[in-house]
Amino acid sequence: MLIGAGVALVVALGALWTFREEREDCNEKWINFSKYGLKYDLETKLYGQHVAAQVILKTVTGFMNNENPKKPLVLSFHGSTGTGKTFASQLIAKNIYKKKTISSFVHLFSVTAHFPHKEKIDTYKTQLQEWIRGNVSNCPRSMFIFDEMDKMHPGLIDIIKPYLDFSDNLDRVLYKKAIFIFLSDAGGVKINEVTMKFWRDGREREEIQLKDIEKELSQSVFNNEDSGLRHTSLIDKKLVDFFVPFLPLEYKHFIQCGLAEMARQGLPPDNSAIKRLADELTFFPKEERVFSDQGCKLIANKLPFFI
Ligand SMILES: Nc1ncnc2c1ncn2[C@@H]1O[C@H](COP(=O)(O)OP(=O)(O)OP(=O)(O)O)[C@@H](O)[C@H]1O
Ligand SMILES: *[C@@H]1O[C@H](CO)[C@@H](O)[C@H](O)[C@H]1NC(C)=O
Ligand SMILES: *[C@@H]1O[C@H](CO)[C@@H](O)[C@H](O)[C@H]1NC(C)=O
Ligand SMILES: [Mg+2]
Repeated sequence: MLIGAGVALVVALGALWTFREEREDCNEKWINFSKYGLKYDLETKLYGQHVAAQVILKTVTGFMNNENPKKPLVLSFHGSTGTGKTFASQLIAKNIYKKKTISSFVHLFSVTAHFPHKEKIDTYKTQLQEWIRGNVSNCPRSMFIFDEMDKMHPGLIDIIKPYLDFSDNLDRVLYKKAIFIFLSDAGGVKINEVTMKFWRDGREREEIQLKDIEKELSQSVFNNEDSGLRHTSLIDKKLVDFFVPFLPLEYKHFIQCGLAEMARQGLPPDNSAIKRLADELTFFPKEERVFSDQGCKLIANKLPFFI
């Protein structure tokens, strides 16, 4: 009896201790960037995105190893649906925060979910400002991800701008250590055109360099009638450090994604099931079926119907 109670007490204390340990603080214990982890993940888990992988590794490593950066790191990810923009932002978070994407220092805003109504723009402005300020004062090494950035109201973008700027010590809070990542489909058509041209010219996909895309991308994103980013001065003021292109995924990347998804779901690898799934989906150009129209997006949900 006594021994039983003693054991129970030890277990309870242990649980209490573990619970104590689990509290996430803004220090090196919980925020510990791993360059090798990020490199490994980008090389082995993100398929077909050599340009994005290189830019991400260089900029994030440089930024995280700098104890006193001059400005926050601002990256803008572009590409058509299912090419890995959200996934890549998760890989970055995973290699910075011990609690990965569920870290309380990682903030994901989905523009259509968080800020849906035009008429409420003034409320959103105050709210967003308070959120950024509150979270950065909590922890300067915070990460803010804005999904569907191209649908963001220009007035809201204006609210973020001061935080992205060189302004030395705005509100006495160190914004310079934060990471901002914008995700959007804007420019995807342009990126697909460039990639398709390389393919048509018989050149290797791996020959594509950032410079082959970046200028056209920034022009198409910011001069395009349909792009919400058009009216913003994010670009003239050079607030975005890099425009990161995500190329359309090829058939072979689709197969890779399928195999990875099977492993995630604990299924044995089965190439033929993924091929059957691919047969149901559209690829472009129509005749040659080289690039996936929806990237790897629908694989996770559709896979169960093909095994
Ligand atoms: N390049 C890739 N390498 C490996 N897996 C990928 C890649 N692209 C997409 N995937 C897989 O497909 C899923 C969906 O991709 P993700 O959400 O990152 O696309 P996205 O570019 O953000 O698309 P959207 O513009 O629709 O938000 C990911 O969770 C991942 O499992
Ligand atoms: C940070 O991670 C490295 C390995 O990448 C490890 O050696 C080190 O002890 C970690 N630091 C802290 C404070 O946890
Ligand atoms: C931090 O941001 C989240 C949204 O991700 C918000 O709900 C929360 O209130 C913010 N925290 C502070 C202290 O402002
Ligand atoms: Mg996404």
